[in-house]
Amino acid sequence: MDINQLIRKRRTIHDYIAGKPVDDSVIKTAIETACWAPNHHLTEPWHFYLLQQETIKSVCELNRSMLISSKGEEAAEKKYARWMSIPGWLVVTCIKSDDELKYTEDYAACCCAIQNLMLVLCEQGIGSKWSTGPVTRDERFYDLVWVDPEAEKIIGIVWYGYAAEVPKTIRKPAQQVLTELP
Ligand SMILES: Cc1cc2nc3c(=O)[nH]c(=O)nc-3n(C[C@H](O)[C@H](O)[C@H](O)COP(=O)(O)O)c2cc1C
Repeated sequence: MDINQLIRKRRTIHDYIAGKPVDDSVIKTAIETACWAPNHHLTEPWHFYLLQQETIKSVCELNRSMLISSKGEEAAEKKYARWMSIPGWLVVTCIKSDDELKYTEDYAACCCAIQNLMLVLCEQGIGSKWSTGPVTRDERFYDLVWVDPEAEKIIGIVWYGYAAEVPKTIRKPAQQVLTELP
């Protein structure tokens, strides 16, 4: 697929076909390609955690318990069932740094890697969603995915699978976001 078409085609997918998982080999190749993102000083600041059922269930349970207090039991159960039906789970982290500039640039590089990953998946007909919901900032989540918060920052969950529905969205035309200078 032409790169312009691919970038425009990728959508954040909220609903996946349940019981139709993506092969781990596909996601592993996509991760390898994602790592060809630009990164200043070749720091390669990203790490990917591929979750399997046991961890996924624990994360869904944690999210349910967090939601019970904020949104009530019914909403929490609904979200639990929805999350449990998502076929693919990746957690992406960025290596932390005390050097603010380095950390800003490393975070930017990780964002590029996630976009790469989502585009590679999209090209293969696999949908994805980058999520930064409250659970991703909870220290219990760090424990569940074995991430040391002193060393790495979780920058998102990337869900993936075959889309049950592809949403529509819009973008501003280029003339609204482009200023041409002499
Ligand atoms: C850093 C980042 C965090 C995001 N977190 C969430 C999220 O927590 N929940 C959500 O529904 N979408 C999340 N999204 C997806 C955006 O909502 C989505 O990209 C936006 O609506 C545009 O839609 P598109 O990806 O289909 O172009 C996130 C996207 C980015 C880049």
